[in-house]
Amino acid sequence: MHTPAATTLTPSRREFTVPPDRNTIITIDGPAGTGKSTVARELASRIGLDFLDTGAMYRAAAAIVIDFGIDQRDIDAIVSKVASADLHFDWAADPPTILAWDKPIDHRIRDADVTAIVSPIAGIGKLREHMVRKQRIIANQHPRLVSEGRDQGSVVFPDADVKFYLDAEPAVRAARRAEQLRAEGRTVNVDRLLADIIARDHSDSTREDGPLVCPEDAVVIDTSTLSRDGVIQRLEDEVRVRISL
Ligand code: DC
Repeated sequence: MHTPAATTLTPSRREFTVPPDRNTIITIDGPAGTGKSTVARELASRIGLDFLDTGAMYRAAAAIVIDFGIDQRDIDAIVSKVASADLHFDWAADPPTILAWDKPIDHRIRDADVTAIVSPIAGIGKLREHMVRKQRIIANQHPRLVSEGRDQGSVVFPDADVKFYLDAEPAVRAARRAEQLRAEGRTVNVDRLLADIIARDHSDSTREDGPLVCPEDAVVIDTSTLSRDGVIQRLEDEVRVRISL
């Protein structure tokens, strides 16, 4: 005789999606190497929201600075060139691809020369103002959003429905980055990676405009000892509880 499986009576823990009529902004901030992007993307897909990678916008700006030979000290030239690029995303792609002047720029934004200058570029106050405006426009067009970056909960969406702050020990973050690079077939110097991470944390959190801070009302998750799936499950559980309140 057929006995219905227990799972048909008890919905799976993974079946939660944000109700379609409910606009929801979830922010995920934290330093590099905490696995934010991957888990933010996966969380968005599981619970039925769009995913915004704001780091990609700053990376695109850094790529534009290099590729147009703009002097890094010429703030007005940087802001005006980046504004003319009208950075936006192709939401039909998964994850959405970033476009400058309507052309994909994804292939460029993770190159080493871009990564090397993105932190100081992201520290330019006028550029941040431009990006914050753009991100809020994107949220108006995509009001069901998981937005990931450094200032999403603190500056861009202070009224977000749920705010997360992901952290991890610098050594763990360096080891993760090393693994990523090895998988791409690159040579790795872990001590150098660790030093870079510490330097980047310092510059991201001490800059005057939009520094990396943990919003007071954020759920803080230390991912040092958690698997990727473990982190996603924690995020999903928190969202489920908070959205259902
Ligand atoms: O997350 P990522 O490594 O792609 O970010 C690239 C750089 O952009 C990094 O130096 C931090 C900065 N950034 C920022 O200042 N504010 C954001 N909202 C997102 C990224």
